[in-house]
Amino acid sequence: MLAIETPLIVILLGPPGAGKGTHAAPLSQHLGVPHISTGDLFREHLRNKTPLGNVARSFIDAGQLVPDHLVLEMLADRVRQSDCARGYILDGFPRTVDQAEALDKQIAEQSTVIAINFDIPDRYLVERIVSRQACKQCGQLYNTQFAPPAQSGICDHCAGSLYQRDDDKEEIILKRLEVYHTQTKPVIEYYSQKQGMLHQINARGTKTQVFQDVLKACEKTQVMA
Ligand code: AP5
Ligand code: MG
Repeated sequence: MLAIETPLIVILLGPPGAGKGTHAAPLSQHLGVPHISTGDLFREHLRNKTPLGNVARSFIDAGQLVPDHLVLEMLADRVRQSDCARGYILDGFPRTVDQAEALDKQIAEQSTVIAINFDIPDRYLVERIVSRQACKQCGQLYNTQFAPPAQSGICDHCAGSLYQRDDDKEEIILKRLEVYHTQTKPVIEYYSQKQGMLHQINARGTKTQVFQDVLKACEKTQVMA
């Protein structure tokens, strides 16, 4: 585990299917700070049929972004929890420049912020996403093509059953990619303008290679902090 003196905020940027969730889980263990995926938080609201879940469903099912004010409220509730005192890993947030500006206002001044962009061309993404499966119980991610479970449909870690996300259908994935290019890509530019904050990594490598690059980016920032 890295020795962190000030709160550490790690922001994972990248298109749908780039590997944000895949690498956020082991990174969370490595750094000892929680993994916060706004997509996972919304899916929990959908499962629990909360008022927020009912509003968010139409946006998520259409591959559109949920309106900023709903995302910001949900995230503020989550980061207020005590496990976030030493920092957290953000996966799928910020997704608009307005969200990035709102985050800047919220994080303590002495925090160390690392933005890591998972760079990968679109042509690899649909294939990755249509073959993704996740465990209903523990959230572990699999891929029937690239990282299958030992036993089809069963989680290797907790024996939970695996499922496919409702928004992982090809026509919705293409919409999510379009939304990514128009609304989320400017966020990369936003962080590139902040001295030394943005790290570009090649997300096309093997999972082991990509994770090594994620760790290097974190270590580089820690040395500079
Ligand atoms: P969200 O859940 O955030 O989805 P996403 O951004 O579309 O990203 P994904 O989860 O699809 O991809 P990932 O990068 O996590 O890839 P993964 O690691 O799983 O958001 C869903 C929806 O919620 C949005 O569309 C929106 O409606 C709403 N929402 C969420 N946040 C919002 C926000 N801030 N504002 C507004 N709306 C918001 O990997 C994919 C697959 O590839 C896996 O099967 C994995 O095993 C495999 N894989 C990963 N790495 C590799 C590798 N190196 N080699 C081979 N296979 C690999
Ligand atoms: Mg994800």
